[in-house]
Amino acid sequence: MLRGISKSFGAVAALTDVDLDVSAGQVVALVGDNGAGKSTLVKVLSGVHQPDAGTVGFGHGTVSIPSPATAQRLGIATVFQDLALCENLNVVENLFLGRELRGLRLDEVTMEVRSRALLGELSAKIPSVRVPVAALSGGQRQTVAIARTLLGDPKVIILDEPTAALGVAQTAEVLNLIERLSERGLGVIMVSHNMADVRAVADTVVVLRLGRNNGVFDAAEATAADLVAAITGATDNVVSRRAGRDRAVDERAAAADRGTEAAHKGDAS
Ligand SMILES: Nc1ncnc2c1ncn2[C@@H]1O[C@H](COP(=O)(O)OP(=O)(O)OP(=O)(O)O)[C@@H](O)[C@H]1O
Ligand SMILES: [Mg+2]
Repeated sequence: MLRGISKSFGAVAALTDVDLDVSAGQVVALVGDNGAGKSTLVKVLSGVHQPDAGTVGFGHGTVSIPSPATAQRLGIATVFQDLALCENLNVVENLFLGRELRGLRLDEVTMEVRSRALLGELSAKIPSVRVPVAALSGGQRQTVAIARTLLGDPKVIILDEPTAALGVAQTAEVLNLIERLSERGLGVIMVSHNMADVRAVADTVVVLRLGRNNGVFDAAEATAADLVAAITGATDNVVSRRAGRDRAVDERAAAADRGTEAAHKGDAS
């Protein structure tokens, strides 16, 4: 749905002509080294940054996403890496923050019932919806942050490094949750550095390198080595590497020729 996206910050070309597709029920992993442009791409999709060039196709047409509010209205939800939860508020309060249900007064009962139902659907392991978020594990917090975006009924959900700070069991929990999301028919874009996580849940892997597409892989077929090679540019296509080597050989030969010429001149004088 992204076509030819470019974005520069001053002299830094963060993204150049990037394409990315995600469809309903599909998990796309977005991978790449530090500074590859992943977060910038996420921010273009979530209305934080405006692209300098390129189009965003969504539903049946192209859209512009001038603000995060527009992204939300279109059904593009983003869970940023810092999660933006309120530590001192409990799970229900965090879920409904900014969209509290009001009758004559705050409808606490309905919010709690809906919170339980939603977390239940996600098979989330949260001890009680009335504990403050500060008391939850990293995985549980990630779950709350994801559940919160689901209240807006999105079509696409973007997760920036959802397992970065998590232990093994918590990571498994979050990966399960990602599977639940795609089963619900959401398109999921997951930014990750972890090849094991990527291969566990993704259908497709999109590699960015230095702000450009550097391969789209079927997650079931790509080996970890394939992905690492695309990320680091080790395969930075064989053709260019060979061209580089030939050029080096030519240059060495030319230098040797110059050396002999110099030597001959030396003889002449
Ligand atoms: N707001 C900004 N102003 C100036 N330069 C920026 C800005 N945001 C990103 N950049 C630059 O754009 C490039 C891509 O950054 P981006 O944050 O998208 O990378 P990333 O793939 O998310 O990396 P990481 O894995 O470290 O999070 C980097 O060179 C970065 O310094
Ligand atoms: Mg980033």
